[in-house]
Amino acid sequence: MKTVKPSKLRSAEWFTTPGKMGFVHRSWLRNQGYPDDYFQGKPVIGICNTWSDLTPCNGHLREFAEIVKRGIVEAGGFPMEFPVTSLGETLMKPTTMLFRNLASMDVEETIRANPLDGVVLLTGCDKTTPSTVMGACSVDLPTIVVPGGPMLNGWFRGERIGSGSFNWLIKEKQMTENFSEADIHEAEICVARSNGHCMTMGTASTMACMVESLGLTLTGAAASPAVDARKKVLAQLSGRRIVEMVKEDLKLSKILTREAFENAIMANAAIGGSTNAVIHLLAIAGRIGIKLSLQDFDTIGSKIPLLVNLKPAGKYLMEDFFYAGGLKVVLKELQKYLHNETLTVNGQTIGDNSSDAVCYNTDVIATSKQPLQSEAGIVVLKGNLCKDGAVIKPSAASPKLMKHRGRAVVFESMEDYHHRIDDPKLDIDESCVIVLKDVGPRGYPGMPEVGNVDLPEKLLKQGVKDMVRISDGRMSGAAAGTVVLHIAPESAIGGTLALVKDGDIIELDVEKRTLHLDVSESELQKRKAAWKPPAPMATRGYVKFYIDHVQQAHLGADLDILTGCSGSAVTRDLH
Ligand code: FES
Repeated sequence: MKTVKPSKLRSAEWFTTPGKMGFVHRSWLRNQGYPDDYFQGKPVIGICNTWSDLTPCNGHLREFAEIVKRGIVEAGGFPMEFPVTSLGETLMKPTTMLFRNLASMDVEETIRANPLDGVVLLTGCDKTTPSTVMGACSVDLPTIVVPGGPMLNGWFRGERIGSGSFNWLIKEKQMTENFSEADIHEAEICVARSNGHCMTMGTASTMACMVESLGLTLTGAAASPAVDARKKVLAQLSGRRIVEMVKEDLKLSKILTREAFENAIMANAAIGGSTNAVIHLLAIAGRIGIKLSLQDFDTIGSKIPLLVNLKPAGKYLMEDFFYAGGLKVVLKELQKYLHNETLTVNGQTIGDNSSDAVCYNTDVIATSKQPLQSEAGIVVLKGNLCKDGAVIKPSAASPKLMKHRGRAVVFESMEDYHHRIDDPKLDIDESCVIVLKDVGPRGYPGMPEVGNVDLPEKLLKQGVKDMVRISDGRMSGAAAGTVVLHIAPESAIGGTLALVKDGDIIELDVEKRTLHLDVSESELQKRKAAWKPPAPMATRGYVKFYIDHVQQAHLGADLDILTGCSGSAVTRDLH
């Protein structure tokens, strides 16, 4: 294998410059006590850290950065940790998705502007994985991801409870079990027992599995709990490996091929992964220049069997998944579907990496011969309500609602929903279709995870557990229900969703891939002529910039000006 000579390292342009500028680039770093030979031919590895007190899921990543540094130094590299915008799912308002693209810009520009030869991305909470990978893709240096890992299983009164999932059950429990504030307080810590991100197969776990199946992590990275000593070993080995990757010039674009994305789509189906993976994979593909469409998720993924029995759709949690053998087992089971020859960061193929996998619990990871469900991938719907598409996750939906015709009960916004949903006079029953508008990328703005809105109190009290809900928003990966999401075009830009009225009939047919508003074209034209766009939610600052540039869900909701890769060249050097 051809290796990159030290003099050809990107960082050499900074550190081996003769005269004044070489002095400037080296001298201020010397205040950290680095010896002179640190600047002579050592690959400089950036550790992109999404640690923040405001992102509790990533609270352990400072310690992990030190472990990664150990590996980098051992392998002869020069580690340089840097902070980037961190997106904490539970505290940020109105929604972290509004800031995913902003964080990706921070990552991209910080990597390109600095003397880095390779990058380690320390990730965890939902958006911290796609934002860092998107930013890194737009620079395309050798890059490895170290997912921070899930929390230990939640246990409450003798039962497994999943973080990110249990919260969606609280309203139902309050209505049906007299679940009190004291019960809520008791459950809080039971579901958050250790460092790490949500331990359901929510978005964070899904995206960790996505980066592993794309080939961007060392094998076994996704399932390993944050507090397991083996996660630390993996962090140290990742530090060693990135130095080798720089020498091999193993850039992201060599790993992130169309086939790698197809593998990730199939893996997402088999793990029962989050619908958010659709949006994030589309955005990542857009950055690295791979043509991927919304339809690909259905064409490639929908016939893949469901193998992983994890909440929200199943019974277990990530710690169980790890003990059963983790993603490697799933990838081995999927070998007859996958592109096994795709390259991964360890220099081996994805097929080689999983060939020795052993499943230790087939109740947690089923075989492809006896799957939990034979066709489990995300379904892409089309119809007059979603001309550019919408998605539904069948593994999280109620089989009896997969074909459904019902009367629309329309909420014009989240505020309207909160104001009226529990009004005893609301004309709604379990056969109705809850329609939520104005929660798309541009309208809300930021496309929040609200698509799985709680059902009305009066129906919960009757024991109703699921209803068809449709919106242009997203759903937490840890949530479940018969929920149609990501409707494009969204209501705020005049999609048909904006024209739905109370009492209209909506037909969902998952098998036929259709979502139809049973209103005549002439009536829709009349409504469209009378429709007025909502006033924009911001007139200045980043939010205005986001509203002006964000693309629709079927394109990954990236900003139009961020799609693509500018490479790692610094175009001007003022000095
Ligand atoms: Fe961070 Fe769920 S809140 S992963």
